[in-house]
Amino acid sequence: MARCFVTRLLPGPALGRLRAAHDTEVWPERRPPTRDELTWGASESEGLLSMLVDTIDAELLDQCPQLRAIANYAVGYDNIDLDAARVRGIKVGNTPDVLTDSTADLAFALLLAAARGLQQAAAAVTAGQWLTWEPEQYLGYDVHGATLGIIGLGRIGSAVARRAAGFDMEVIHTGRGGVPLIQLLARSDFVSVHCPLTAETRHLIDAAALAQMRPSAFLINTARGPIVDQRALREALVDGTIAGAAIDVTDPEPLPPDDPLLTAPNLLVVPHIGSATHQTRADMATLAVDNLLAALDGRPMPHPVV
Ligand code: NDP
Ligand code: DGY
Repeated sequence: MARCFVTRLLPGPALGRLRAAHDTEVWPERRPPTRDELTWGASESEGLLSMLVDTIDAELLDQCPQLRAIANYAVGYDNIDLDAARVRGIKVGNTPDVLTDSTADLAFALLLAAARGLQQAAAAVTAGQWLTWEPEQYLGYDVHGATLGIIGLGRIGSAVARRAAGFDMEVIHTGRGGVPLIQLLARSDFVSVHCPLTAETRHLIDAAALAQMRPSAFLINTARGPIVDQRALREALVDGTIAGAAIDVTDPEPLPPDDPLLTAPNLLVVPHIGSATHQTRADMATLAVDNLLAALDGRPMPHPVV
């Protein structure tokens, strides 16, 4: 039996399998463990089941001499220093595929909501501002027939492209086999971000990139907050450089309620809910537990990153 630390209670039955096999401690609170609490929980453990909000770097790993495996409860793993794990012989796994469709659904929901101004229209009803049916009120932009630019045509980007086909959209993409970013920004009515956060993609969408977009275009981000320079995004929304944005991810997370970004017009922000369906979150738990059980058993992780 190995000692395992799980940094949050998980939905579904998977955690029961880990508890049955190993001495498992689960962080009991809704808030994440602080740095010290994470270090305390992981320091004596051989297995760590982490969330995307847990920063796992060399300094932390130095405090965890027994650690053999990290199962991240996410497909993204920008919270983990992979090189630091690799040199210490620690296996790292993630949860791909099971969340692809839920996240693509959310990206498309954001796209539709932004295009048709759902947030503003619903707020008008609640505020008693719905006077009558008016020819020139609540006008949005057509999604059907529009051009969608996908940054990162991987699993989720491709799933968004499949949804776009049902709306008769023209789809272009950057990355392998795609058009240059500058061209995608200039041609797209909707730009949807689906690349991982890396040193290369941090602030990929900055003021210069936003300036390439059409004034009638929308930015959708369900990847990671720091891929977009949020100060530049706020300016672009205030100045009308772009028509709007709908984002599931911010920098930082959570976004403080007094963050200047939230004063920008035509902006919809939701709290990192791309994979948040009952089934998907339970499936992610299954994959994360499978990864940890395999590694602690000396077998290859079914979904390895390192
Ligand atoms: P994939 O690895 O399948 O896809 C990522 C794609 O991005 C790959 O095709 C990759 O190309 C491409 N890419 C990498 N760098 C660039 C770049 N500089 N410009 C353009 N394309 C690039 O990952 P997933 O689709 O499964 O997930 C993507 C990301 O979505 C995750 O890393 C995570 O951060 C985020 N995510 C967010 C969720 C949420 O709740 N909001 C839920 C799930 C994921 P190549 O293969 O050539 O490197
Ligand atoms: C991920 O998996 O990377 C998401 O951000 C959360 O599901």
